[in-house]
Amino acid sequence: MSGFTRAGDVKVVPLALAERARHEQLKITLMTGASLGHDVDKALTEAGALARRMPFQADPVLRAAINRGEVMYIDQHLSELVEMLRTRQIAPIDVAIIEAIAITETGAIIPSTSVGNSASFAILAEKVIVEINLTQSLELEGLHDIFIPKHRPQREPIPLMTPHDRIGTTAIEIPLEKIVAIVITDEQDSSSTILPADAEIAAIAAHLVNFFKQEVAVGRLPESLLPLQAGIGTIANAVMMGFIDSPFEHMTMYSEVLQDSTFDLFDAGKLDFASGSSITLSTGKSQQVFGDIARYKDRLVLRPQEITNHPEVIRRLGIIAINTALEADIYGNVNSTHLQGTHMMNGIGGSGDFARNAYLSVFATKSVAKGGKISSIVPMVSHVDHTEHDVDIMVTEIGLADLRGLAPRERAQVIINQCVAEPYRQILNDYVAEANLRGGQTPHVLENAFAWHSRYRDTGTMLPAVKNPASKIQPASLLSGQVESLEMLPI
Ligand code: COA
Repeated sequence: MSGFTRAGDVKVVPLALAERARHEQLKITLMTGASLGHDVDKALTEAGALARRMPFQADPVLRAAINRGEVMYIDQHLSELVEMLRTRQIAPIDVAIIEAIAITETGAIIPSTSVGNSASFAILAEKVIVEINLTQSLELEGLHDIFIPKHRPQREPIPLMTPHDRIGTTAIEIPLEKIVAIVITDEQDSSSTILPADAEIAAIAAHLVNFFKQEVAVGRLPESLLPLQAGIGTIANAVMMGFIDSPFEHMTMYSEVLQDSTFDLFDAGKLDFASGSSITLSTGKSQQVFGDIARYKDRLVLRPQEITNHPEVIRRLGIIAINTALEADIYGNVNSTHLQGTHMMNGIGGSGDFARNAYLSVFATKSVAKGGKISSIVPMVSHVDHTEHDVDIMVTEIGLADLRGLAPRERAQVIINQCVAEPYRQILNDYVAEANLRGGQTPHVLENAFAWHSRYRDTGTMLPAVKNPASKIQPASLLSGQVESLEMLPI
């Protein structure tokens, strides 16, 4: 099914399929670009219709079913799914259901607000169902740039030299006879779920802007910076908003999801061009942008996610990648997906495609979660999505750690000093001191490395309990997990 972060998803057929699955035994493997709107994942999950789901989701009901082991979820780099389909490394697609604004005389499908994996799904599927969305502006025609890599050994370099290059067609070209049904809808895209920036997120944005100012001052970045990628969610959107009051001009984006901040940056005259795979906006912003899309159209392009997230293009263009961590460890390994190391949140999405290949890979997170009961910086991450090798900059509301050129022991000191709030900072310093005594390139007290996670599971907070809250923390007992009382340290 088409759909990428709630944009350009199909809105009628999947809900009809869910209804059918309530009355008859029906199980499908559902592949999409990324997450869907309209509670499609919820409806299919509740109807028991989902056997397998890939490559990304962000729905609470589906998430719960995944974590109960009822739906097999394949959490994949977003650039990889269609490559695996094309090379028959995974089972082929029977039916592709694609949202469009129109079908041309020859059967070419003009997508709506996302491209995602739609082009390759339509090309590779046996049958195609098209949902024509009457609410989407016909002005969207011309926004898309559909480029499909050839089969090997005929594969050639992707001829994309700047974010604004157009290298493909404006519609998905498939034989007309493959289209077996056309369904009309007048449902709008679901609006994005991002929230306004709070004080911590504003501080994160300010640290990053200051960092980029310094990079420009020493001549490592031009004043337009390099093409920016921003991940999904409130933090990434707010960080981009931080550039509105920055001195940078003529910026460009080479990203996946274009959120509200992209259009605010256009309106502020800061951004010259944005390349993405989808446009996902809040309700108010959606009315403004799609009501007047002609105003932005020559500064936008939507591509297949295989191209937006292509490792070779990302490395060559020199992308500045800004993604969000759930937790990171003292050495800079990042967990973006698994709560407490086991329970799926959303998925890795495109963060791995970008982080590994970027010119500069930034990870942002608040220093604590759940009112301070969880430290986002822990001794050892409970699941690894991005290794220390793929993380250049770590930033929290406390400060920014520049990890470039640092060895693990140095990284630990910089991350703890720059990114961690008390009392977690002191406890981490004590952990490092004990670990360093044991030696190693990347020292750890292995038996205590997950003590914080265990304590959170057992007591509801990573903070160690003490007999007298006013007394100084005693690290050895804390890190060995000896909980002396349930009276928690204030934060
Ligand atoms: N342990 C448990 N929960 C945590 C946590 C941790 N270490 N860190 C954050 N959380 C919780 C927050 O409390 C919040 O919970 P709530 O929804 O109940 O309030 C939730 O996780 C989201 O955190 P928030 O700080 O609001 O971040 P966000 O909306 O910016 O999303 C990610 C952060 C990591 C979930 C999101 O960016 C993501 O899914 N990333 C992976 C995919 C990706 O990076 N794609 C990028 C390319 S598009």
